[in-house]
Amino acid sequence: MSYWFWDPSLSIGIEEIDNQHQRIVNYLNELDEANTLRDREKVSHVLMGLLDYTRTHFSFEEQLLEKSGYPLSSSHRQVHETFVSHMNNFRIRHEKGEDITRQLMSELRIWLTNHIKKDDADYAPYAKKILNVEKSWTKKMLDKLFS
Ligand SMILES: [Fe+2]
Repeated sequence: MSYWFWDPSLSIGIEEIDNQHQRIVNYLNELDEANTLRDREKVSHVLMGLLDYTRTHFSFEEQLLEKSGYPLSSSHRQVHETFVSHMNNFRIRHEKGEDITRQLMSELRIWLTNHIKKDDADYAPYAKKILNVEKSWTKKMLDKLFS
């Protein structure tokens, strides 16, 4: 059974962003699986993948918001940066041998749900315009960050 199901209440109406959020949800499910199996090597692997993917996703959002002229883009970036450093503390504790998986999963799930429903939903109208008009910019950015 999955730890977390992505559901339509988490959609901000932008396919590219929704797909990325779904990937993060899937990462948490993979992490849950590895944790249930008590497979520490797999936990490490999934955890690094999750942190890396989350940073890349944030970077995509930040560049999109800047390009769209979203008035709160710098505070949105700040919120991301604070969360990344929080996640990095989990990584450090994990590397020291501490079992942080359940706590990280629970915090990330709560944080992401709130962030998507408030902060991300707020920028959606701005981002949509750019994604519809600047298709080649969007493709270039997606290829650069996610390939
Ligand atoms: Fe965001």
